[in-house]
Amino acid sequence: MNLILMGLPGAGKGTQAEKINEKYKIPHISTGDMFRLAIKEGTALGQKAKAFMDQGALVPDEVTIGIVQERLSMTDCKNGFLLDGFPRTIAQAEALKQLLANMDEKIDNVIHVDVPEEKLMERLTGRRVCPTCGRTYHVVYNPPKKDGICDKDGTTLIQREDDTADTVKNRLAVNIDQMQPLLNFYTEEGTLVTIDGDQEITDVFKDIQKQLDN
Ligand code: AP5
Ligand code: MG
Repeated sequence: MNLILMGLPGAGKGTQAEKINEKYKIPHISTGDMFRLAIKEGTALGQKAKAFMDQGALVPDEVTIGIVQERLSMTDCKNGFLLDGFPRTIAQAEALKQLLANMDEKIDNVIHVDVPEEKLMERLTGRRVCPTCGRTYHVVYNPPKKDGICDKDGTTLIQREDDTADTVKNRLAVNIDQMQPLLNFYTEEGTLVTIDGDQEITDVFKDIQKQLDN
């Protein structure tokens, strides 16, 4: 099963990806997570990506397509994969289609997690993440059992650097601009499924499962 999870910043892609990964055992490939790891490790890729991410801008297509191509060629993607946050431009969507065709593969489902724009700022500024395991929480909607501490490994939770109100505004503007052409692209491909992301986290996942099990 080759999947794409699409949605605006804060729609719940990472949250649902964790659940899909657990249930369907396919690797979760998040370009945002890959860039954040590269920044943490101080690699050349991280240095390239940081300036764009700090502004809430998109990392250039050639950089992003390159890392996805490399990742999809790894053996754990042979039985399926879940892309989170890629593609984000038509150039990326076209490149993905071509590189999958070269591997005799295609995308089976594009799941668009749809959340009204006005809900996203609160989701992003209230997000907390575990720097050790990457698990995502929300101070109101998905709090850890113990305030500020990861349930899984006891690490102190942090805020993502691009979750400040100013950067969030820019991320939302950039992504809203890019979204409709991509939705049109996958509607034409016949793979787009839209899920109501403005429900409890577990109910969003139930709707995704219904689609995937069909
Ligand atoms: P990326 O890391 O992908 O960020 P994003 O798209 O802005 O999306 P987020 O990760 O912020 O949101 P999410 O949808 O995963 O929501 P989450 O589940 O965490 O990208 C970061 C940057 O990297 C980009 O800005 C860009 O610079 C660069 N980049 C990445 N990919 C790129 C590409 N392809 N091309 C170019 N550049 C790229 O949930 C958010 C919060 O809401 C959490 O607190 C969560 O607990 C809560 N929540 C989740 N679901 C619900 C619910 N149903 N109800 C209530 N709260 C909920
Ligand atoms: Mg995410």
